[in-house]
Amino acid sequence: MSLYQMPEWYDGLRLHQNEHTGGCSPRVLEALAALSPGQIASYPPYSAAIAKVAGYLGVAPDRVALTNGLDEGIMAVSMSCLRPAPGGPLPEAVLPEPAFEIFRLDTEVAGGRLVSVMPKPRFAFALDEVLAAITPRTRVVFLTNPNNPTGVPVPLAAVGAIARQVPPEALVFVDEAYAEFSGVSFIPELERFPNVVVGRTFSKAFGLAGLRIGCLVGAPGALDRIRPALPVYSVNAAAVVAVQAAIDDREHLHDYTRQVRESKELMYAACERLGLVCHRSAANFVLVCAGPRAAELVAGVRARGIFIRDRSTEPGCDGCVRIATGIVEHTRRCIAAMEEVLCAAR
Ligand SMILES: Cc1ncc(COP(=O)(O)O)c(C=O)c1O
Repeated sequence: MSLYQMPEWYDGLRLHQNEHTGGCSPRVLEALAALSPGQIASYPPYSAAIAKVAGYLGVAPDRVALTNGLDEGIMAVSMSCLRPAPGGPLPEAVLPEPAFEIFRLDTEVAGGRLVSVMPKPRFAFALDEVLAAITPRTRVVFLTNPNNPTGVPVPLAAVGAIARQVPPEALVFVDEAYAEFSGVSFIPELERFPNVVVGRTFSKAFGLAGLRIGCLVGAPGALDRIRPALPVYSVNAAAVVAVQAAIDDREHLHDYTRQVRESKELMYAACERLGLVCHRSAANFVLVCAGPRAAELVAGVRARGIFIRDRSTEPGCDGCVRIATGIVEHTRRCIAAMEEVLCAAR
């Protein structure tokens, strides 16, 4: 099987969840194969993996908490910030839209009140509107940089401005699931902002989505607030060895980020040919506006074995579909399918 061929258990090319379309590094498979029966029989030790992740992110190990995917990190932040005190006001989460849907779900699960900030034209970051939405009841501001589903970056200065304005009990959470593709991170600023926590994942650029590993990065005091909401052994022994092997294979990472850049250029050019508006993305996907033809486009490429994601019901995303732009060969296949669907129907 070629490295970039989809494994047989998938019934199509998955461009709908922003995963690594080429799969993890072969070094990860070697590390998994080398797991001993004893390692699998034991609760996993975390210090080596934490040290490796901390080294990769350029922080001290006490600033890293591993999580079972970043999803678990977001749930833990929500549970620690947004549970209402008996008889007290509802804690508020400020969320600039359009946003990764998990923030909405987790705010609801935790019992907090969602304060949505509606998008501006071309999804320019709504700093003034976010600042205006902060109240004495704000307990968390959820930001995603670059944003999902738009791929549009959040200026680092805006994160700082928000962190300066939130009440002392609140955290600013910066989801950096796609930071390997943008090359921009708030992590170097964390020393100056102890009320900001950054979330990272190894699901995207490192191709470990199936193993579920991510992390929270922040001041030890901020992490101590969140840790009680994290299960003690939520990251498994396979993920622990896999993340170390993945971080060690920089060539695999750099090859993928290079292909993602090339794929995005191919997608922008295809949109121009097809008369579709799209948004320049700092992530590994492109939001394409197909207008009234969005559903037809999703169904048409699906019939050709390719999954893309209809995002038309998200705020500001009327008629938009989100397409992962990973391995160049996969992007070319998707573009060919889009051309068939849209041109044939004309
Ligand atoms: C913005 C954002 N945060 C977090 C996640 C979830 O990451 P993980 O697979 O580490 O749970 C995703 C996955 O799509 C995402 O888009």
